[in-house]
Amino acid sequence: MLKCYKHRVILAIETSCDDTCAAVVEPDGRRALSNVVHTQTEHGRYGGVVPEVASRAHLERIDGVIERSLSEAGIGLAEVDRVAVTVRPGLIGALLVGVAAAKGVAYARSLPLVPVNHLEGHVAAAYLAEPALEPPFVALIASGGHTALYSVDREHHMHLLGETLDDAAGEALDKGARMLGLGFPGGPALQQAAQGGDRERYDFPVALKEKNNLDFSFSGLKTSLLYKLKDLGGERAREELSHLAASYEAAVVEALARKLLRAADLQEAPVLVVAGGVAANILLRHTLEEECAKLGIRLVIPPPELCTDNAAMIGAAVPHTPAV
Ligand code: KG4
Ligand code: ZN
Repeated sequence: MLKCYKHRVILAIETSCDDTCAAVVEPDGRRALSNVVHTQTEHGRYGGVVPEVASRAHLERIDGVIERSLSEAGIGLAEVDRVAVTVRPGLIGALLVGVAAAKGVAYARSLPLVPVNHLEGHVAAAYLAEPALEPPFVALIASGGHTALYSVDREHHMHLLGETLDDAAGEALDKGARMLGLGFPGGPALQQAAQGGDRERYDFPVALKEKNNLDFSFSGLKTSLLYKLKDLGGERAREELSHLAASYEAAVVEALARKLLRAADLQEAPVLVVAGGVAANILLRHTLEEECAKLGIRLVIPPPELCTDNAAMIGAAVPHTPAV
């Protein structure tokens, strides 16, 4: 029998790390009708995400988060025609909670299940920000677990151009913030501590500057902060906090902007997309907006809430992902 729905929407679920997320997205993946994110606060006291704690917190929250995403969208389960879920990369126990929930809904309603790659989801957030956007473009993903540059072709296939050789940019910010005695997650804490600080006071290294490749490295930067803090001593470091935070943040931003613009140049890309949690960073956004305006390059950076982990971006990747 032919099913006849008012809407035929996508229900998307994301639980790859420490955010329990569900969203309802239009079938073309270009508009979210709801986007519910429950950020787990349990990890703060450990200074980083604890996988077992994350899995258990997802388990407690997932049903409520899915229900909220449907009610906020004004949609009943009968109007859902596909269920999308993040299947990789991520914490295995955390992923399993989302996958089990998605399978449950799909099986109960005889719906296709769409397995989405989290990184493709981050890039797809750009389609929610600019519904008319089409590849080809060059994309930078900078998150807590990944930092990589891709060329995205007309078929939405992602080709790796370069990636971090050690820490991810978000990881470097999180570790730096921790050394400075700031909270977790470190990116937003560092951004706040850097306010009013002098970005040029400390000369933190930007790695692989001269090399004609598109890789990143952040481990030297982290070590450099560690030695700087030892040199300064506790009291002086506390007085210098805003300058240290500003200089450290500026070094991460310079590394990301430099390589992205180099990739744009090498690929002759007229459009750049920046995605992942670190793309929420105000200094990175301003730096790239300024540079791209000078170069006449179109820059797409989703609003901060679509840069950090969410399920709307997972739904946005569905039109380019085969169902199982
Ligand atoms: O994409 P995401 O939410 O999760 C992963 O897939 O990893 O990224 C999380 C990362 C964390 O390292 C966090 O510190 C960083 O994004 N982040 C930021 C900002 N907001 C989140 N980094 C810099 N500035 C921000 N405003
Ligand atoms: Zn992510």
